Amino acid sequence: METTRQRLDNLRNRKVRAEAGGGQERVDVQHKKGKLTARERLDYLLDDGSFQEIDALVEHRCKDFDMDKNIIPGDGVVCGHGTIDGRPIYCFAQDFTVYGGSLGEMHGLKICKVLDMALKNGLPVVGLNDSGGARIQEGVASLGSYAEIFFRNVRASGVVPQISVIMGPCAGGAVYSPAITDFVIMVDKTAHMFITGPEVIKTVTNEDVSFEDLGGATTHGTKSGVSHFTTQSDEEALELARQLVNYLPANNMEKAPTKSSSDPADRVCTSLDSLIPDDDNKPYDVRKVIEEITDNGAFLEVQADWAANIVVGFAHLAGNTVGIVANQPCILAGCLDIDASDKAARFVRFCDSFNIPLITLVDVPGFLPGTNQEWGGIIRHGAKLLYAYSEATVPKMTVILRKAYGGAYDVMGSKHIRSDLNLAWPSAKIAVMGADGAVEIIHRNRIKSARNSEQERERLVEDFNEKLLNPWKAAGLGYLDDVIEPSQTRRRLAATLAILLDKEELRPARKHGNIPL
Ligand code: HXC
Repeated sequence: METTRQRLDNLRNRKVRAEAGGGQERVDVQHKKGKLTARERLDYLLDDGSFQEIDALVEHRCKDFDMDKNIIPGDGVVCGHGTIDGRPIYCFAQDFTVYGGSLGEMHGLKICKVLDMALKNGLPVVGLNDSGGARIQEGVASLGSYAEIFFRNVRASGVVPQISVIMGPCAGGAVYSPAITDFVIMVDKTAHMFITGPEVIKTVTNEDVSFEDLGGATTHGTKSGVSHFTTQSDEEALELARQLVNYLPANNMEKAPTKSSSDPADRVCTSLDSLIPDDDNKPYDVRKVIEEITDNGAFLEVQADWAANIVVGFAHLAGNTVGIVANQPCILAGCLDIDASDKAARFVRFCDSFNIPLITLVDVPGFLPGTNQEWGGIIRHGAKLLYAYSEATVPKMTVILRKAYGGAYDVMGSKHIRSDLNLAWPSAKIAVMGADGAVEIIHRNRIKSARNSEQERERLVEDFNEKLLNPWKAAGLGYLDDVIEPSQTRRRLAATLAILLDKEELRPARKHGNIPL
């Protein structure tokens, strides 16, 4: 009969085997590639000693291809829960040393258990992905487990925050789990995401493309918009995941966590009074405004290198997490285009899902003109942003810094789509369009027939500027709640946010709306 001692030894041996993963040789290869192992990554992600593993003893049950002769407890994914700065999260880390981190039936079901538990307990999920994809030997059982994960990602969407860190390959349909989650962080040079690899592409379209160009972190951080953050190392990616979690509530029923701040809520931002150039067409960096108004100037920018004509990200205002959306006049003059609309719409919807108040800083000359944009569906994409803002019931505060022209005025958190506070700086110009364009349309004949056309045009532009390109008409109609000195922006937003935090706004009950996707 087995003694107590033997039973304990048995348990310990099993745990040691699970912890060894695919063995030292494969761990060394992982390290040589500049990658941490799954367990090292979780150690880095979580507070010291907080990780509680589940399913370390799960084994695959595939018998084909001699798989039953190579069973590694844990089946290539380390799952459990732990804390980040004392707040609990669920997590999983794929172990590339076990069958290349490939996802077989049981590996997938372990991830499903994590997602189920996170949903049941209302806790965020951080997934660390490093996998050769569907485990080829397990065939359809592997595909089935993938779909079980996708289904759960969708079910948890908008209920608990989901963050994917891509730290190795992520190919084929496997990309769709991260794509459904709220944020994707990619490690430069080691992370690759694509639906079909370079060889298939060569066969089908005869294009030559490297792994890196096809689906590296730079590609997805600048061209496709699939990823939200690029980091230079595993450690940096995990640190970023911790930072991100710190901005977020644990679930959709909670308020975002507050953070004590040494920065006075009523701080006057003197430099903002002279920030807007006298020349309307001169750009400035809207991040300077963001850094002035947020607590200690801290701002976690999301998708910084994609659709940079709009800036989105998280900050704190008087200790409260806020989401910031700002047109960026130094890129494409801050125009809204297809990508900017998609980027901002998804961000607004994330904030609304998780009770994060929105601050919108407006300096937008309109939607970007051009056949590329029209044929690419700017109507459909721009509508997403309008839809997202209109649907959002979190506290919404908007400041018009300079231009707010045309449909873009309506879209960017206007009073008409139920913003709670609408402010403008004296430099605001709110109109159907800029003076040059407007004068050409409404005074075409007058300019043509004038003795000195150019002089007449200039006079009319001046006149239009004076009459319409200012905040006074909108303030007179109550579309703005106030016109303020720029230096007062932080204190005004902070004071209003304090009373909006318990805001309740209902929309008609429905299964779900039909956002123009
Ligand atoms: C089983 C796999 C595997 C897989 C890798 N391995 N991918 N085992 N199923 N999908 C194993 C290898 O046999 C090897 O085992 C170990 O993992 C490490 O792989 P290497 O090739 O030595 O590593 P590396 O050179 O770094 O290359 C990594 C790789 C490559 C680029 C991921 O392994 C690869 O191309 N794998 C196949 C990728 C793929 O086509 N997957 C299916 C995608 S489609 P040993 O024992 O030698 O250490 C898909 C559909 C999902 O995933 C659909 C969801 C709906």
